Amino acid sequence: MGFLRSSCAARPIEAGGRGTALDRPTAVGWRRPSVAEVIAARRPSEPLECLRPDVLTGIARSFVAAFPGEVLYAVKANPRAAVVGALARGGISHFDVASPAEIKRLRRLCPTAELHYMHPVKSRSAIAAAWRDHGVRDYALDSASELDKILDETGGTGGTAAGRGLMVRLAVPNPTALHGLSGKFGADPRTAIALLRRGRAHATRLGLTFHVGSQCLDPADFETALARVGEVIAAARVAIDVIDVGGGFPVAYADITPPPLSAFWAAIRRGVARLGLAPSVRLWCEPGRALAAPGGSMVLQVVHRRGRALYVNDGVYGSLSDGGREGVRYPVRLHRDPARPAPTAATVPFTLFGPTCDSVDFIPGPFLLPDDVAEGDWIELGQLGAYGTALGARFNGFGAAEQVEVRDPPLDHADPAAGPASVRLAECDAARPAFPLCIPADAESTATGQA
Ligand SMILES: Cc1ncc(COP(=O)(O)O)c(C=O)c1O
Repeated sequence: MGFLRSSCAARPIEAGGRGTALDRPTAVGWRRPSVAEVIAARRPSEPLECLRPDVLTGIARSFVAAFPGEVLYAVKANPRAAVVGALARGGISHFDVASPAEIKRLRRLCPTAELHYMHPVKSRSAIAAAWRDHGVRDYALDSASELDKILDETGGTGGTAAGRGLMVRLAVPNPTALHGLSGKFGADPRTAIALLRRGRAHATRLGLTFHVGSQCLDPADFETALARVGEVIAAARVAIDVIDVGGGFPVAYADITPPPLSAFWAAIRRGVARLGLAPSVRLWCEPGRALAAPGGSMVLQVVHRRGRALYVNDGVYGSLSDGGREGVRYPVRLHRDPARPAPTAATVPFTLFGPTCDSVDFIPGPFLLPDDVAEGDWIELGQLGAYGTALGARFNGFGAAEQVEVRDPPLDHADPAAGPASVRLAECDAARPAFPLCIPADAESTATGQA
């Protein structure tokens, strides 16, 4: 078997190890292949999602160690069994779920994990099933009618239904986020105050939650949001049990090196300290992108080249939906069949077209790749462990991605000393989740479709 030539525009690729690609578990344990070995063995003509379980476990560990409260994984970012399992082995035991399907899935994968229903708008049937069938106790809301629904479907208003948690979602500014989330959800301060006052009588656990927007680039946004939380609590004059600072923690892309996560932890600590809350108040966060993105990359094949445009086998209707938007330039590297001449050293900017017939299936990038990239080459795009395959549709019959586990470090452009990319892989091997996981062994290795 040949080994692939790989080239990375921004940093050299690690040398692929010798040995049989796609090694199986042996008496001495797993040895996952590298991405280059997988490509050499499979020569994939369909998109391949390359998950890095050790990276995910390491990131989870660093979040759990650094955040002064509970870390809830926002399952929407990537619901794959392998991702959930790897994060659980890193110490994640709480999950932010947003739909009946996510709840059922998590209950199957992690029967005893704590699930929190953090979508502020839910159907009555979804609330009732979550409460009755799946033991979900915490519910987000941002309106009086949602509070009515939750109370009706979780035991009524005749008292505090056992363990019921009501989390009022407050609208906060999203000034630096790549994807603002403030337009759709969130109560204005007056509404939030009224909801807290009314909710107090019906909640074992009453909280305030917010979201600064996804891929937030300034830690100060959390302090601004927490200041608004403080004003609302002071005006409501009711006791609060939880403050949930949401998600939004950023990752590095090809041209974005965000502040390190330590700067976000410091901003949150400062913002919370100013509130002067009782020590019993719990802090939660709900990261999606920052927990999962570095743990996955997509390997795509070049089907056609037209000038500086590459037509590849996945696009905005598949795993590159985020890349169709302004501001997401995935880190990239080329993998080439060794039978072909080595790639040129000089890199030039390329754009990508996805496989569907729709002309919006376009990813502007630009992506720096060797000048002579050609049909048959593979390109690997990094930071796609979050909001990659999770956003995919099957338009035009495209969009199926096979999944494989690899041992590579994250394909990112982050300073390895800062943020979640600084994962010590060697520490992750023996990691165990804090609760039973029901993830079949094959779903943890290689699977097709959604595991
Ligand atoms: C309620 C809620 N929590 C958490 C997240 C995760 O956000 P991120 O991936 O930016 O960390 C989202 C993303 O949409 C969300 O809507």
